[in-house]
Amino acid sequence: MNLAILGMGTVGCGIMEVLSMNREKITGLIGEEITVSHVFVSNVDKKRDADLGGAIVTDDINSLLDSDGIDAVIEVMGGMETTRDVLIQFLEKGIHVISANKDMLAKYIDELALVAEENDANLLYEASIAGGIPIVNAIEHGLNANQIHKVMGILNGTTNYILSKMTKDGWDYARALDEAKEKGYAEADPTNDVDGFDAQRKIVLLSRLAYGRKVDIDEVPVTGIRNVELKDISNAGDAGLKMKLVGKSEFDGENVSMEVAPVLLPDEHQLASVEYEKNAVYVMGNAVGETMFYGPGAGGPETASAVVSDLINCARSRGAARTGTRPEAAAHVKASDTAYS
Ligand code: HSE
Repeated sequence: MNLAILGMGTVGCGIMEVLSMNREKITGLIGEEITVSHVFVSNVDKKRDADLGGAIVTDDINSLLDSDGIDAVIEVMGGMETTRDVLIQFLEKGIHVISANKDMLAKYIDELALVAEENDANLLYEASIAGGIPIVNAIEHGLNANQIHKVMGILNGTTNYILSKMTKDGWDYARALDEAKEKGYAEADPTNDVDGFDAQRKIVLLSRLAYGRKVDIDEVPVTGIRNVELKDISNAGDAGLKMKLVGKSEFDGENVSMEVAPVLLPDEHQLASVEYEKNAVYVMGNAVGETMFYGPGAGGPETASAVVSDLINCARSRGAARTGTRPEAAAHVKASDTAYS
């Protein structure tokens, strides 16, 4: 299977590491070797922390679009409309697309999913939500027997890292943000992390997936943590409370309501013990009741774990386009018709 990777930053290098570290197992699961045949980067001369083997490294996206030998594309480069247009062109050629680009997906996933379906290609995006936690697979497959009416979680590793450092280690905001950047957790523009937009995009993708509904990102009110001070954290601590940036979404069978905001949780709350770059997602289903998924929300190999899992699943189901990626594909009954609302 020939693979093109678009972008070779923290996650791109993590993908190379995971493919190399677990090559034998991955080959065994798929039944064939994965070859990274092409890598697209904006600067071909930049030194990277990855062995790109014999891959053709190029800054010319058209040479990839014109290439005949690519079976799947992994997009970890970011960007909005230009990236969407490139991915649509790959999908139109029947090439499977795996993307970790939550910013672009939160706005254009319906459009991309339609093109994927029309061309018998897979569009997979496990790594776009909560890093290494396999929450897309959990909701799409593991919980598909349920009507889901509530999803809530700590969805951004950078802000959770900052708040944890301020709470547990007494660091100030600026120092904690600098370290989150250094560790590769933060976005290229950390505004998206600290002002809550990254979590907003993830709660939009989660809501669409969980409820089978189209949801509008502009309907999600967002408050970030930029103005949080050490004294706010210590006052909360004195009252037995911890500050966390939480994304929350509920569906009543008619309407979806979503919000991202810092909240004060009692120390004994399940989400209060989720520290540093870790994320957690709580999902409530009408058959299963409460479920909670915990793991690393950011980081190279951690996020690559989700990307490569998509790749393996894609390779194993080649030719069979995944269903359920479009909201219309999922029927949903009203909360009042279910045992659990
Ligand atoms: N900047 C993101 C975070 C990376 O901190 O969670 C993973 O989406």
